[in-house]
Amino acid sequence: MEQYAIKGGNPLVGEVEIGGAKNAALGLLAAAIMTDETVTIDNMPDVRDTNVLLQAMESIGTTVNRVDRHKVEITGATINDVVIEDDFIKKIRASYYLLGALLGKYKKAQVVLPGGCNIGSRPIDQHIKGFKALGADVKIAHGMIVAEAEKLVGSHIYLDVVSVGATINIMMAAVMAEGRTILENAAKEPHVVDVANFLNSMGADIKGAGTDVIRIKGVQKLHKSEYAVIPDQIEAGTFMMAAAATKGDVLIKNVIPKHLESISAKLIEIGCEIEESDDAVRVVASRPLSHTHIKTLPYPGFPTDMQPQIAVTLALSSGTSIVTESIFENRFKYVDELTKMGANIKVEGNSAIIDGVSKYTGANISAPDLRAGAALVIAGLAADGFTTVDDIVYIERGYEDFDAKLRKLGAQIEKVTSDKELQKFKLKVG
Ligand code: UD1
Repeated sequence: MEQYAIKGGNPLVGEVEIGGAKNAALGLLAAAIMTDETVTIDNMPDVRDTNVLLQAMESIGTTVNRVDRHKVEITGATINDVVIEDDFIKKIRASYYLLGALLGKYKKAQVVLPGGCNIGSRPIDQHIKGFKALGADVKIAHGMIVAEAEKLVGSHIYLDVVSVGATINIMMAAVMAEGRTILENAAKEPHVVDVANFLNSMGADIKGAGTDVIRIKGVQKLHKSEYAVIPDQIEAGTFMMAAAATKGDVLIKNVIPKHLESISAKLIEIGCEIEESDDAVRVVASRPLSHTHIKTLPYPGFPTDMQPQIAVTLALSSGTSIVTESIFENRFKYVDELTKMGANIKVEGNSAIIDGVSKYTGANISAPDLRAGAALVIAGLAADGFTTVDDIVYIERGYEDFDAKLRKLGAQIEKVTSDKELQKFKLKVG
């Protein structure tokens, strides 16, 4: 048993340093194997998802040298296999990035078909459509996706849905294809831009990342690079919500405020004060918060990965808010848990209708997935009394030192592994 024990009620106050973006790091790590030279990646978050991807990369022969906690050297020259086994894809979906990277480099890749995930069905038809358009033969056999090509040739590809994963995967497959690729209706998320910038630093010729048309001119080969991952938009947004929900005052450092605009705008709308500087945002929640409506959308819209965290905040704000999830169909699983804490939320189809309450009360709850888990921790921090959050392994997939960072802001939270430790925590915090 590993859980967070929380004694809520303290406003979070102080400064927090945001780490490298998990979702960017996953793309970057896969892309790093595309050269035989050694690539150095800094500002890597030390979280379970990136560590599992590194293991998957090692399983096919990649040399991984951890220089320090946040810096890694990757050498793809030692790769001796193009098959990614079941274990890794089960643990992290993003090992499918190795499909694009291996196909782009070796013209052959075999990865277990990613199964459904607990936020809804997540097809990969757009990834496959892109690989096929580049000339690969893609088959699904025995639960594996097998992609192979004599040669890859640039193509004009129009994505039917805006997909971060498909955009990054197709970009990787196309960088060393012959000729030009035009990818339309591409995702514009900051991590798409980061992967494009990284590939360009390795000698690729990618233009337009961050707009919905990406143009790629194939190059013969890629070379070494030293690169630092961008700050994590979602980790930053999560601390912004923690500040708001606990009526706190938090300076969130090492961020790109532009990436946080959709989140800042909503917090201002409900009554928070936001101060932006070059690489920090300060969130002050000194007044009672009010309601708003949210609809998740691809970037620059409001991120689906922030939907549970803002719902937790809105459920403590006066009036009725409606949160509509338009990216994933099963992303309200935290609502039952939040109801145990006194929230008043009704889910109808892909919308949650939230009637704000004045407080939460502590309860024993479980994290249903990564972001919802973080949101429930925020609820615990805002609640009266004790909360325990189970299944924190989900949270550790994407947040480095989450409890330690929160403690630095005055939160009473500890990771406990037994009943005895839980009792000790309760005695300590009263
Ligand atoms: C990435 C993020 C995830 C985030 C999501 C949306 C990573 C590792 N994960 O996930 O945290 O929640 O973007 O911002 O970066 N779709 C298809 N066919 C496809 C691909 C996607 O129909 O081939 C649909 C999905 O079901 C979903 C939508 O497109 O409804 C967006 O998915 P996508 O952007 O691909 O999400 P991921 O890349 O899996």
